[in-house]
Amino acid sequence: MGKNQYWARQRRLTHAYLTEASNAHYYGIMYHESSLEDMASKVMCQLTWDDPSLSEYSGPITNVLTPLWHLPEMINPWKRAERRRHDEQQDWWMERLMHIRAKMMLGLQRPCFARQYLEKGHKRSNLSGDYEASCVIGMIALVGIFTVAGPLSYWLVSMVHHPQWQTIVQKEIDEECHGRMPTLEDAPRLPVLRACIKETMRWRPNVPTGVAHEMEADDVFRGYHLAKGTRILPLDWAFLRNPMKYPDPDNFRPERWLEPGWPTYQEPLSHFPTIKGMTSFGWGQRQCLGQTLTQDELIVACGALSWCFNLKPKKDLATGLDLPVPMDKSNSLLIIKPSPFQMTFEPRSKARKQQALRLWEESDARDRRERYEFAEAATIALEKLKTEI
Ligand code: HEM
Repeated sequence: MGKNQYWARQRRLTHAYLTEASNAHYYGIMYHESSLEDMASKVMCQLTWDDPSLSEYSGPITNVLTPLWHLPEMINPWKRAERRRHDEQQDWWMERLMHIRAKMMLGLQRPCFARQYLEKGHKRSNLSGDYEASCVIGMIALVGIFTVAGPLSYWLVSMVHHPQWQTIVQKEIDEECHGRMPTLEDAPRLPVLRACIKETMRWRPNVPTGVAHEMEADDVFRGYHLAKGTRILPLDWAFLRNPMKYPDPDNFRPERWLEPGWPTYQEPLSHFPTIKGMTSFGWGQRQCLGQTLTQDELIVACGALSWCFNLKPKKDLATGLDLPVPMDKSNSLLIIKPSPFQMTFEPRSKARKQQALRLWEESDARDRRERYEFAEAATIALEKLKTEI
C-alpha cells in the first residue's frame, strides 16, 4: 500500500490494538500456546477473532514466477488464481467480522481485535466501514502468522546445529527460573536466550530481500541518481552479513551480543540484546508494528522449547546415522521459512515431560472453563433480558 490516508489510519488502528494487547500481556494466551508448533498462528487468530481453531494457513506460490505475472489476465492463470485467492480471503475476513457482530448481539463474544473495532473502532480510527476494517484486522492476523513462523522454525535449525549453545541456554533457564518454564517476566535475566534468538534472526533472516520502498522524490546516493518512483530493495541478507559490524558473519555466533569487544555488544544485558530495531523490521515510517509481539512470542516459545526438550537430529532407523537438517533450504516466498525437515524433540527428563504435560492440561482446562463461564453468563443475561421484555 502507498503512503496515503488509508495507510495512515490503518497503521494508527493496528498500532493501538497491538500496543493494548502487549500491555495486557496478550491476555495470557502466549503461555497457553507456547508448546504448539503453530503457535504464531493460534496466537494471532485468538487475538484477532478470539478463536484459535481458525489457524490453518498456506502461502501463494506466485512470487516464484514473476516474469509470467505480466501476461494479460485472460491468459494468466496465476493472476486469476491470485485474484480468486484475494476475493476468497476478503470474503472470509468479512464473514469473520459479521460472525463476531452476531455473537456480540447475543453477548457471547469475548474480547478480541474484531470486537474492539465493532465496539468503538469507527469513532476512533476514521476507517471507512466494515469492508476496510475486516481487511485491516485480517491483515494483522496474516502478517503476524507468516512472519513469526520463520524465526521459530529457524530456532530449531540453529539449536540442532549448535548443541553447545543449546546447553548454555538450558543452563541459564534452569538457574534463573529455578526449574519452571520461563515467562516474559524472566526475560531480563535471560540474555543468552535473547542472544540466541537475535543471532538466529541475523544468521537466517526470514525476509532476506527486505520489503521494497519507493522514492518519493529524486535523490542522489553515493553518486547514484535515484529518480522519483524508483523501487528500492533494502537487502537485509547483505546488511546482516556486513563483516565490519558482524565479524565472522556466516557463522552462528551469539557471543557477539554478549561479550564486550564485539562491535554489536551493548549493555545493560538485562535489556540487550533485543531484536527490536533490527534492520529485518524495515525502515522509517513503515517500520514493522509487530516488533514487541515478535520478541515476546519468541522469548516465550524458544524459552519453552529449550526448557522442555533437547532439540536433536533424528536418526535414520536403517543406517543409524543422523538425518540431515539443511541450513540453506527454504521456500522461495518473500517471507521465508526452512523447507520441511525431520528432527527429534527429546524431553529433557521424565519429570520435565510430566511437568510440561501437566502445564498444558491445566492451561487447556482453564481456557475451556473461561469460555464456558463466559458463555453461561451471557446466556443467563440474555434469558433475563427476554423475561424483562
Ligand atoms: C519475524 C517477525 C517479523 C518480521 C521480520 C517483520 C518484518 C516486517 C517488514 C520488513 C515490514 C516492512 C517495513 C518497511 O516497509 O520498511 C513490516 C511491516 C509490518 N509489520 Fe512486520 N514483521 C514481523 C512480525 C510482525 C508481526 C508479528 C506483526 C503484527 C501482528 C507485524 C505487523 C506489521 C505491520 C502492520 C506492518 C506494516 C507497517 C506499515 O506499512 O506501516 N509484523 N514487517
